Amino acid sequence: MLNGPNLNLLGEREPELYGSTSLAEIERATRESARALGVKCSWVQTNHEGQFVDAIQGLKGKADGALINAAAFTHTSLAVRDALLAVRVPFVEVHLSNIFAREPERRRSLLADLAVGVVTGFGADSYRLGLEGLVAHIKSR
Ligand code: DQA
Repeated sequence: MLNGPNLNLLGEREPELYGSTSLAEIERATRESARALGVKCSWVQTNHEGQFVDAIQGLKGKADGALINAAAFTHTSLAVRDALLAVRVPFVEVHLSNIFAREPERRRSLLADLAVGVVTGFGADSYRLGLEGLVAHIKSR
C-alpha cells in the first residue's frame, strides 16, 4: 500500500475534502481489512517522488498487488507511470476525494489506464473498497 505526498497530513489537511481520519487510522483500518481478507500487507507513505518510484520498483517479485494513492503524483508523474509500467504488478488506484469532480488538472490521472480499477470519492472507505477489489482480482486470476 503506497501513499504519496501530503497524505501524512490527513485529518488536519483540508478536512472538508479529505475528512477527519488520519493516515494512521486509515492504515489501521486497512490492515484490519487485509487480515479479514487473509492477505499480508506493508504500508509506505512518502513525500518524495524518487522514494515513491523506489517503492514501486520494490514491488517486483515481492507483492502480488498494490493499493496506490499516488496523491498529486497521480496527475503529474511520468516517472511513477514508467515505474508501474516496468514492474507490471496489478494495482488499484485509490483516492479519498472524487478526482473527477475537482479542478480540471485533477481530473486526469496518468496512472488510471494501467490500473485494474480506480476507487475515488469514498473518503477513507476508498482504501477498504480498493483492497477488496484488488484481492478479488488477484484471486480470480
Ligand atoms: C488525492 C487527490 C489528489 O488530487 C490530491 O493531490 C491528493 C489526495 C485523494 O486521495 O483524494 O493529495 O489523491
